[in-house]
Amino acid sequence: MSDVVLKVDGLGKAFARNGKRVAAVSDASFSVGAGETLGIVGPSGSGKSTLSRLVLRLIEPDAGSVRFDGGDLLTLRGAALRSVRQRIQMVFQDPLAAFNPRAEVAEVISDPLRIHRLVARVDRPAAVAHLLDRVGLPGVLAERAIHEISGGQRQRVAIARALASQPKLIVLDEAVSALDVSVRAHILRLLVDLQAETGVSYMFVSHDIAVVKAIAHRVAIMDQGRIVETGPTGQVIAAPQSPTGKALVAAVPRLLQAQD
Ligand SMILES: Nc1ncnc2c1ncn2[C@@H]1O[C@H](COP(=O)(O)OP(=O)(O)O)[C@@H](O)[C@H]1O
Ligand SMILES: [Mg+2]
Repeated sequence: MSDVVLKVDGLGKAFARNGKRVAAVSDASFSVGAGETLGIVGPSGSGKSTLSRLVLRLIEPDAGSVRFDGGDLLTLRGAALRSVRQRIQMVFQDPLAAFNPRAEVAEVISDPLRIHRLVARVDRPAAVAHLLDRVGLPGVLAERAIHEISGGQRQRVAIARALASQPKLIVLDEAVSALDVSVRAHILRLLVDLQAETGVSYMFVSHDIAVVKAIAHRVAIMDQGRIVETGPTGQVIAAPQSPTGKALVAAVPRLLQAQD
């Protein structure tokens, strides 16, 4: 494989529940190459979001290591951590929850440009217009409030914001799960096109293996906090080895016949 952007080894996280420690992620190891999409698939509660948050360092692990771009993510502090925060971006399921609903689209997209001092104030409107264009949105949307635009448009805005700081890796957690089927297909196509243009890597998390099939080069299947199977997407879908993989594929029988 080409350059490794993200390398996760033995990652673990437990949460307290009813006085007991319950493992949400156990001994997770995987890597993501430059320009590659790794799909993380598993049933609800299998630990996908916890794994995403660990990689984004929104929560701290109990065990294991995360290497990003050759550096140890878990020991970074101060300026080094801020620099990594610029190069790993995230897109979540519900942009209405992630952004202030009353904020203007232009503000949401230009925030990272301002925070990371990437673009001078006078040049930000042009940068926003360019980012809107790249995600297939009309420039007039810049002045609309987040709550005024559609769910599909909001997710395009979230992608534009993620792209603004020219990340090496974008973690997408159920990013298309709330969208209608046709809108979802457009967003998946956009993500594939943007990856071809920029070489960005994706860690693409979904409970739906049919969605992952459309975008991921490789998949890791999770169950009860563990990665139970990893492999090239086509191979895993054609011949899943783990009981969880078999169940996920069996739930969408048309997947096996689809040739696309
Ligand atoms: N902040 C938290 N506090 C306590 N338990 C949590 C927390 N976050 C997740 N969990 C638990 O960890 C497990 C994995 O959850 P999650 O990572 O959200 O799974 P998924 O995204 O695959 O649905 C679940 O049992 C969930 O209840
Ligand atoms: Mg989740």
